[in-house]
Amino acid sequence: MKLLVTGGAGFIGSNFIYYWRKHHPKDDIVCLDALTYAGNYRTLVPLEDDTHFRFVYGDITDKKLVFDLLAGEKFDAIINFAAESHVDNSITGPQIFVTTNVIGTQMLLDGVREFKIPRFHQVSTDEVYGDLPLDRPDLAFREDTPIHTSSPYSASKASADLLVLAYHRTFQVPITISRCSNNYGPYQFPEKLIPVMINKALGNEPLPVYGQGLNVRDWIHVDDHCLGIDLVLEKGRIGEVYNIGGHNEIANIDLVKKLLKHLDKPESLISFVTDRPGHDLRYAIDASKIESELGYKPKHHFDAGLKATIDWYVENYDWWQSILNGEYKELNEKIKGEGSR
Ligand code: NAD
Ligand code: DAU
Repeated sequence: MKLLVTGGAGFIGSNFIYYWRKHHPKDDIVCLDALTYAGNYRTLVPLEDDTHFRFVYGDITDKKLVFDLLAGEKFDAIINFAAESHVDNSITGPQIFVTTNVIGTQMLLDGVREFKIPRFHQVSTDEVYGDLPLDRPDLAFREDTPIHTSSPYSASKASADLLVLAYHRTFQVPITISRCSNNYGPYQFPEKLIPVMINKALGNEPLPVYGQGLNVRDWIHVDDHCLGIDLVLEKGRIGEVYNIGGHNEIANIDLVKKLLKHLDKPESLISFVTDRPGHDLRYAIDASKIESELGYKPKHHFDAGLKATIDWYVENYDWWQSILNGEYKELNEKIKGEGSR
């Protein structure tokens, strides 16, 4: 198999590339990434001598680049991770979310259609379902839960999903979609909750918890997300949506307290700050479809996975420090100049 992984210099895409190299060592992978602020080529440096891996710098909204790439290689599948992914950024600047997440996805779909790629997999999010009330623990998102978005980010991801489904219905483009809950693990950009809190705790700085910290997220280890995508690619039915989740709901404040305990830091570091506008209350995934149809079973227990993740950030201090001090941009700029590796 030859895969095109878009957004592979980001958090989940890079973990997916490492997952795939480990579990499918004979397959070839091309990573297409625009190296935006959230992309970090450094994460992929260990793959430079891997003859099954190639990096291409480029934007999924660039039709010529995408079409030239698809014309030149015979891909068996495209897995689209490329996106603007941070909700807070979508509140301060929505336009790039529409450009990348909606137009970019549509450009890839046009390419899939033109070059008859056998599979397009869209990596989507549980945020397309909106949120659930805090006082109804019996409710969880199912694949047939209506789309009901809150932020410009989730609206852009939902729009992309609708386009993916429309291209399947109208043009018979062979697609699948997975919708996953909050991921944690190595290589997450230090703008998201867990790496932000690790960074602040290690520096003995205030930990900024939005509102009262009562919002609930359903956490999954990034490797378990990759496993779910693997199963969908291997056995998923064309045209279908599959939820992926880890059955791990926890309120933000309880997660932050757990993290402080692991790091042996005092809870007095917690600082309640102004809430996120439109802040989704609770996410919870019903993953029974992927479990019963594809035999999906997450492998990581949350407490052990969280501890391993915290240890990873402690041991890989340089990786995230180079992001915080901006040094990571130097290598990104060099790669942009070269175009591909
Ligand atoms: P990320 O922000 O860490 O990485 C995104 C990557 O996409 C970066 O490498 C960036 O350079 C690249 N990119 C951005 N715009 C691009 C463009 N126009 N062309 C090519 N590359 C571009 O994101 P992530 O957290 O790894 O999320 C990956 C995907 O998974 C996203 O589609 C996101 O919606 C989805 N998702 C994320 C989570 C989560 O918890 N992080 C959960 C469910 C779904
Ligand atoms: O559910 C899947 C989604 O999870 C993905 O689609 C998104 O790409 C990903 O960013 C994530 O979205 P969230 O908004 O849930 O993640 P974030 O890490 O930004 O925030 C998690 C929770 O923590 C949320 O309730 C807001 C809160 N928070 C976040 C930050 C960054 C804080 O309280 N303080 C913070 O500093």
